[in-house]
Amino acid sequence: MHIAILSSSTRLNRQSHRVALALQQNIENQGAHTASVLDLAAYQFPIMEEVLQKLPNPPAGLAEFAHKVKSADAFIFVSPEYNGSYTAALKNAVDYLKESEFNKKVIGVASVTSGSMGGMRAALAMQQLALGVSGYAIPQMLLVGQVAQRFDEAGNLLDPLFEKSMHSFLQHFIWLAEAVVEKKMSVLAG
Ligand SMILES: Cc1cc2nc3c(=O)[nH]c(=O)nc-3n(C[C@H](O)[C@H](O)[C@H](O)COP(=O)(O)O)c2cc1C
Repeated sequence: MHIAILSSSTRLNRQSHRVALALQQNIENQGAHTASVLDLAAYQFPIMEEVLQKLPNPPAGLAEFAHKVKSADAFIFVSPEYNGSYTAALKNAVDYLKESEFNKKVIGVASVTSGSMGGMRAALAMQQLALGVSGYAIPQMLLVGQVAQRFDEAGNLLDPLFEKSMHSFLQHFIWLAEAVVEKKMSVLAG
């Protein structure tokens, strides 16, 4: 199974990207699945004027991004909380794509703040987004408050107490994602 992690902050000196890197490392280290980070700061998509399918001249990287989303089996949306929600960059990127690219795929959400609250409102809003594109949003969420104290820039864990939260979130996410992938394989096998 391949898991795509959408890293949604395009802010200079962003910190939530650390969580995307940490999740990727954690999944890869478990050895059962592969994971990649789709970094919206690297893509720099302009504000959507039309969906990809109908765009005469798509922005650079958009077709490749769409292909990576289509090829992934499950997703984790990682976003900071900005004014009570997830980033505009995440909504913008998702809106370019066809709903079918997320359809029947498991989506976990991780929200990130510099303060202690961890961004519950952004996490809830991302679950709504996941449902909006016909994904299977898992009920568990990873809330990362005080991000700079928990992860370094490379995504290494600085706070050993947080390992349990991350492990538990990933366990729930992978459990359902594997079940959905197995179901699809059994349907294909007839
Ligand atoms: C535009 C903006 C809005 C923010 N709104 C919230 C918020 O609603 N709740 C919160 O806990 N922190 C909020 N913060 C603080 C962020 O949690 C903090 O800046 C965090 O590092 C942002 O993630 P990033 O560094 O990946 O961009 C806000 C920050 C910015 C720049």
